[in-house]
Amino acid sequence: MRLKAVQSISTSYKELVVIPLFENELKKINWIKKIDGNLFGRVKNIIDSGDFKGKFLSSLTLYRDAKVFKRMILIGAGKKREINQEKLRKLIASADNSAQSFNIKSYTVLLNPFVPFTISNYGAGRVFAEALVLSRFNFKKFKSGKNKSDDKDKKDINVCFVGVPRGDFKKGLLYGQIIADNVNIVRKIVNTPSNALIPESIAEEARNICKNIPALNCTVFDEKELEKRAMNGILSVGKASVNPPRFIIIDYTPEEKKEDKPIVVVGKGVSFDSGGISLKPPGGMEKMKYDMAGAGAVLGIMKSMAELKLPQRVVGLIPTAENMPGGKAYKPGDVITMASEITVEVISTDAEGRMILADALHYASTEYKPKAIIDMATLTGACMVALGNKAIAVMGNNRGLIRRIIKHSENSGERVWELPMWDDYDDMIKSETADIKNSGGPGAGTIVGGVFLRKFVKNAPWAHLDIASTAWVDGNKKGYLCKGATGAGVRLLCEIIRHWNN
Ligand code: BES
Ligand code: MN
Ligand code: ZN
Repeated sequence: MRLKAVQSISTSYKELVVIPLFENELKKINWIKKIDGNLFGRVKNIIDSGDFKGKFLSSLTLYRDAKVFKRMILIGAGKKREINQEKLRKLIASADNSAQSFNIKSYTVLLNPFVPFTISNYGAGRVFAEALVLSRFNFKKFKSGKNKSDDKDKKDINVCFVGVPRGDFKKGLLYGQIIADNVNIVRKIVNTPSNALIPESIAEEARNICKNIPALNCTVFDEKELEKRAMNGILSVGKASVNPPRFIIIDYTPEEKKEDKPIVVVGKGVSFDSGGISLKPPGGMEKMKYDMAGAGAVLGIMKSMAELKLPQRVVGLIPTAENMPGGKAYKPGDVITMASEITVEVISTDAEGRMILADALHYASTEYKPKAIIDMATLTGACMVALGNKAIAVMGNNRGLIRRIIKHSENSGERVWELPMWDDYDDMIKSETADIKNSGGPGAGTIVGGVFLRKFVKNAPWAHLDIASTAWVDGNKKGYLCKGATGAGVRLLCEIIRHWNN
């Protein structure tokens, strides 16, 4: 996809022009006259007719005797004072969906109504690029036949933004493209079924990302190394599978940051979650291939760090296993001594995410003196019940870190909502036999997951993101979100890390 930013329409594409208009500025369209008198006449007639009111995402497609542009789409931008980054994403994705359905490869977008951007020039460029790249995602890897490339149709797309102010808009376009390309790579990996993606495949993806990039280093612990280190949470969950578990470490250390303490990001990598002996009901079980969405996000974040050359040391950790029933499986009632030496009574083998994350969080807090630890996990079905697929649940042990995450979530387009972790919830994981148990019975499912994880973090600011809600969308394409894996976490974490020092 080639994205161009110019001042005037002289070098723009003539197949289609997209004209966004604010609801409360329908009378202020004289700027169109300066671009094309004919176009102005057409738009004015429509507005005078009262048929187009500029309501957010309302749109009209018109065809005209080709003077300059062959077609135009008028699209409502809503009220000017209500515009924000996420609305701009939705707006451009909506216009692009029409362009896609008309099979138009090159088109022009007039940005004049938005300029000067009330959001930054950089932010504007970024959200447009993100929305376009994300909206063109198409997962075809497992279709037979020729046209199997996921972004083949994406390659020859040209979009020209007209009326762009000087400044950082173009830089924003570039940043947005890098991030969104990586989100799409994550979507691909997460959509891949578990017969084609086992823990070792995730390790292989990690090695590939680190190949040829000096700032990135990859280490993988196999099952023998896991045994040596008594990482029994990960080992137990992976025990019944013929595909052994792994622990993956990706270290991004920019040259000038060798002495720095890292931010550690951790992602749950359950390549398939059958529930194990506490077997899940069959309905919808096929979706449990996405139980490694947290791991996918870590891969996407680490790749983005290196490509954006962010001046910040970041370590990515991925505990990964396949949760299966079988003769060797861990069982309800078992007591596991975790890497941290905390003993856990297994109530449900389906509460496996916290078992593997516990070892990873222990590793993060003892191997590094991290500035912060942030984990991402499709941890609980309850998260979906609480928030639907509109927000990520956040919990943690440090107000400053949580405030930081909430602050940057807005612009990233990935909403987060905090759930409480009052100490009283600790009662819910008390065990008769062991130090704690891995499931708290009915109620507060998402919080109990967080409360369990908290036990394994030592002396570091930590936040837990339950992405079970947003990492997958059922139903049809909506805006820039495509059916299936969403690549949740990548945009949010990159935004947080990018702003770490300001
Ligand atoms: N991977 C699931 C959570 C999940 C469910 C994610 C549905 C996305 C969609 C997780 O391992 C799990 O099974 N959690 C249990 C926890 C319970 C046994 C304490 C759950 O949510 O029921
Ligand atoms: Mn489970
Ligand atoms: Zn799971």
